[in-house]
Amino acid sequence: MKTSTLILQVSLIFALVAVLLLQVVAQRVGDGHAPCSKEDMAALLTFKSSILEDSTGILSSWTGNDCCSDWEGVSCDLSRGKVVQLKLEMPASGYGPRPLFMRGTLSPALGSLKSLQILQITGAKKLTGAIPESFSQLSSLIELILDDNLLSGSIPSGLGRLTALAVLSLSGNRLTGQLPPSLGHLKLAQVNLGRNLLAGPVPSTFGNLKALEFLDLSHNQLIGGIPSFMGEYQNLTNLDLSYNQFSGPIPSSLCRLSMAMEISLDSNRLTGQIPSQIGDLQNLRTFSVSNNSLNGSIPYSLGKLKKLWRVNLSGNKLSGPVPLEVQNGLPVLQSLHLSHNDFQLQTIPDWIRRRELREVHLAGCNIRVSLEPFAFPGIIDQLDLSDNHLTGEIGDFFTNMSVLQTLDLHSNQISGEIPSSIWRVKSLQRLDLSRNQIEGGIPASLGQITTLEWLDISNNMINGSMPSTFSSLVKIKHASFRANRLCGQIPQSRPFNIFPPAAYAHNLCLCGRPLPPCK
Ligand SMILES: *[C@@H]1O[C@H](CO)[C@@H](O)[C@H](O)[C@H]1NC(C)=O
Ligand SMILES: *[C@@H]1O[C@H](CO)[C@@H](O)[C@H](O)[C@H]1NC(C)=O
Ligand SMILES: *[C@@H]1O[C@H](CO)[C@@H](O)[C@H](O)[C@H]1NC(C)=O
Ligand SMILES: *[C@@H]1O[C@H](CO)[C@@H](O)[C@H](O)[C@H]1NC(C)=O
Ligand SMILES: *[C@@H]1O[C@H](CO)[C@@H](O)[C@H](O)[C@H]1NC(C)=O
Ligand SMILES: *[C@@H]1O[C@H](CO)[C@@H](O)[C@H](O)[C@H]1NC(C)=O
Repeated sequence: MKTSTLILQVSLIFALVAVLLLQVVAQRVGDGHAPCSKEDMAALLTFKSSILEDSTGILSSWTGNDCCSDWEGVSCDLSRGKVVQLKLEMPASGYGPRPLFMRGTLSPALGSLKSLQILQITGAKKLTGAIPESFSQLSSLIELILDDNLLSGSIPSGLGRLTALAVLSLSGNRLTGQLPPSLGHLKLAQVNLGRNLLAGPVPSTFGNLKALEFLDLSHNQLIGGIPSFMGEYQNLTNLDLSYNQFSGPIPSSLCRLSMAMEISLDSNRLTGQIPSQIGDLQNLRTFSVSNNSLNGSIPYSLGKLKKLWRVNLSGNKLSGPVPLEVQNGLPVLQSLHLSHNDFQLQTIPDWIRRRELREVHLAGCNIRVSLEPFAFPGIIDQLDLSDNHLTGEIGDFFTNMSVLQTLDLHSNQISGEIPSSIWRVKSLQRLDLSRNQIEGGIPASLGQITTLEWLDISNNMINGSMPSTFSSLVKIKHASFRANRLCGQIPQSRPFNIFPPAAYAHNLCLCGRPLPPCK
């Protein structure tokens, strides 16, 4: 009796399981789950075999007969069993406990994934060789993203046949050669070719790329003028042409980029003036043209930019007064870089101190006043007044700047002592007081600023010994005490005892590691 009940129960369970299984199968067939296409699977396996080392472990999931189920990074159109996406993302930097990379080459076999729409292999770091010509056959491709791999060779001109392509991102490789003119015939929305070795001019065909929203060609070796047709990219929000060798003027047509939020043209060879129509860029958040040879004065219309929060004009030949419209405009400005131009500011302008700025860079602006009467709002976190003619004592200058992280006063004529109230600047990371006429001792309270990473007080007349409180400064990565009148033992704790001896050279009588022992 008991046994038959058991058998009954067991067979009921079996029946139930069978029904459930059938339902699953039925559902799959209903969904039209076709097995992975043999051709696509072969292409993926050829790619896998061209990867000689995979520290990510991603490719170890590529086993079994169905590339459409559980192959990491592979997505299929399940009705046809065709691969539509291949996405292998490794973190570009910030190595975790062990570096994640793939070593090998990009197999041309991937070019036979006929239905592929998205091909993304990023951060592999050790993927060498060229971008295969066969990728020109990926006629369904919408996104080709191969950043930070170490690819070399030129960008295949055949990519210009990928008529569906909207995103082309090949940044952070070692690509050489010129920008293929063929790319100009596509309807690209995003182009990121930054951090390569690309040379030559921007092809005139790029004038057709009217749908561009994002263009980054930074950190290459591109030459020629910035084409004025770039002003016709009506939907462009980000333009980064920095760190190239572009020459000539900034075309005034760029001021028609009404959607532009970010324009970076730093470190080129641009000449002429900042276009007077700059104020038309009503969506601009950051405008950065540092390290060029721009001259003339700052256009007053810059002051009309209601959303601009960062402007970097450092390292040019700009001159003249800062227009009142700029002084009183720019309602959300936070970061102002005017360093190393031909400005003759004479004083630290009131308007700059009145505004609640977080970053103020006025190095080399011919400021010739005493530091003493000046105060900055407590909100400031970067202040660079180096390379001016500041006199007077530091006094209470920075005691109110409680969130200050960077203070650079090097190469001035500041005298007096480093105030012991310096400990109040609790978040200071970088302090440069070098090349002044500062005297007296190093306040022991400096050792309380444990956030300090960078300290340079070289080339002053500072005397006495190095405070023992410095043993608390464990985050220090760089320090120089060179050319002062210091004496006595260097704190014998890390990192002070392992800095290069030059950091302590030309003092009265410093001793102990890295210098010879004290007598
Ligand atoms: C710009 O974007 C708008 C809105 O997305 C779109 O309708 C228009 O076609 C785009 N312009 C070009 C030239 O692609
Ligand atoms: C300025 O630009 C030149 C190339 O034009 C570059 O070599 C240099 O590093 C740049 N300087 C800074 C501070 O970025
Ligand atoms: C501004 O430009 C200078 C000079 O090229 C550069 O050193 C600095 O990092 C730039 N600052 C910002 C915030 O872009
Ligand atoms: C700017 O420099 C150009 C040469 O690059 C020169 O012809 C022009 O006179 C200068 N303009 C001003 C306002 O200094
Ligand atoms: C510090 O801030 C207070 C209040 O804002 C102000 O009264 C005082 O003058 C400031 N002191 C210095 C040295 O800037
Ligand atoms: C350091 O120099 C100051 C004058 O600048 C002097 O008053 C002081 O006695 C000196 N201290 C030492 C320890 O030599």
